[in-house]
Amino acid sequence: MAKQEDTFKRVISHAKEYGYVFQSSEIYDGLSAVYDYAQNGAELKKNIREYWWRAMVQLNDNIVGLDAAIFMHPTIWKASGHVDAFNDPLIDNKDSKKRYRADVLVEDYVAKIEGKIEKEVKKAAKRFGEAFNKEEFLSTNQRVVDYQEKANTILKRLGKSLENEDLTDVKNLIEELEIACPLSGSKNWTDVKQFNLMFGTKLGASADTAMDLYLRPETAQGIFVNFLNVQKTSRMKIPFGIAQTGKAFRNEIVARQFIFRMREFEQMEMQFFIKPGTQKEWYEHWKAHRMKWHLSLGMGEDNYRFHDHEKLAHYADAAADIEFRFPFGFKELEGIHSRTDFDLSKHQEFSGKKLQYFDTEENKNYVPYVVETSIGLDRMFLAIFSNSLVEEELENGSTRTVLKLPAVLAPTKAAIFPLVKKDGLPELAKEIIEDLKWDFNVLYDQKDAVGRRYRRQDANGTPFCITVDHQSLEDKTVTIRHRDTMQQERVAIVDLKSIIHKEVDMKTWLQKM
Ligand code: GAP
Repeated sequence: MAKQEDTFKRVISHAKEYGYVFQSSEIYDGLSAVYDYAQNGAELKKNIREYWWRAMVQLNDNIVGLDAAIFMHPTIWKASGHVDAFNDPLIDNKDSKKRYRADVLVEDYVAKIEGKIEKEVKKAAKRFGEAFNKEEFLSTNQRVVDYQEKANTILKRLGKSLENEDLTDVKNLIEELEIACPLSGSKNWTDVKQFNLMFGTKLGASADTAMDLYLRPETAQGIFVNFLNVQKTSRMKIPFGIAQTGKAFRNEIVARQFIFRMREFEQMEMQFFIKPGTQKEWYEHWKAHRMKWHLSLGMGEDNYRFHDHEKLAHYADAAADIEFRFPFGFKELEGIHSRTDFDLSKHQEFSGKKLQYFDTEENKNYVPYVVETSIGLDRMFLAIFSNSLVEEELENGSTRTVLKLPAVLAPTKAAIFPLVKKDGLPELAKEIIEDLKWDFNVLYDQKDAVGRRYRRQDANGTPFCITVDHQSLEDKTVTIRHRDTMQQERVAIVDLKSIIHKEVDMKTWLQKM
């Protein structure tokens, strides 16, 4: 646990030190769970957004884009169920005065039981060596079977109580499990209460005529209410999708873990409109397709897993998360939800406008069903950033810090150094920059010894360093160094563009899908 915390602290401080993420309003002591993206962070975020947009919109001729406003008519949130049901069950500890999400307290308790199972598995694997059969061990070792049964029983009861809105039972569960406040160790709890997560604001100048608005808690509703406009103007036929990226706002109570859970964040969502009855097959299709997108970035298959939901949101008939191994364990990165016709039907009912599609093959009108894919851009940023940050031991016994970002997403693709600040080397380095900058983000650095400049760019995540030396003046060659292998090669200046292009080109990466 302490190791996990240390790793995570390193991620946060590296993000600040290298100009990726800053605390919002830092000079005023910060604003909790709100962050700003700095010079490198803004580039990385833009590249992730682009990687998603190309995969979803550009490469699918049946998906189009949208950029809906954040402000929307307030009845939308009544229709979508967010006014009545977008709640978290909260509980306060009377001694520490700290507020927690009741379901998270129980889930953390279960995670500890799962941790014990993992420990037993590790111990047994060590004991039995090659003969170890994990599946068999999990189903036959009595201690493990008991742990698993306990975890399942707790989660089932929690799911049922939340579904029935039985908050008294959620509190009883916390008390029966003797869950203590992580801060004070006290078990002195208040009752569990529901808390709506939407931020309110006002539209209009005078207090009596102003209209109450909400800042959107998801971008999806902008897509639903524009469904027919887009379908008609693009002349799309079902099945087709609408994709958008944009800010969403939630008054998160347990907003810890850096940019994992923020109050202002960005989503990348796609609603896929389909014929009723085909939702199961499209749900499976998008689950598989989105996993392929993640794997194309080469961050290791073992770092992802699906988690099928038992407790479904008010709009879904099936839902799964793609979970990622963050420094604090496996957590949700993306959601794939089969949302039925819930949203379109509700908007039809509340607006009094028909939101139906005429299917020429079936020769009838219907309200389409929807399968959505929804990923947090900031959360994807954290997944990539934390997974890429490594401390490497070198052969000479020293260590180096490297940010092994997938090259396609790196903020700066190449750094160009003159070996020394004289003899015409800076001029040639700048000439190279002038040529490369039309295709890639590149930077110039002449400060310190070349070794230190390499280290700086390793920590910055730059895939290539290019050094101009005296030989360069004679034969128009330079040294190019690869970040991950530290291999250096002598190449012609005229070949630089194609060498870099080969490693950072989005097409090559997306073709791995
Ligand atoms: N339209 C469906 C929807 O909004 P969700 O599971 O509530 O579903 C989708 O959110 C994704 O948005 C999550 O998987 C996560 O990546 C991201 N997300 C949700 N709340 C977030 C928060 N407070 N901070 C950062 N990302 C968040």
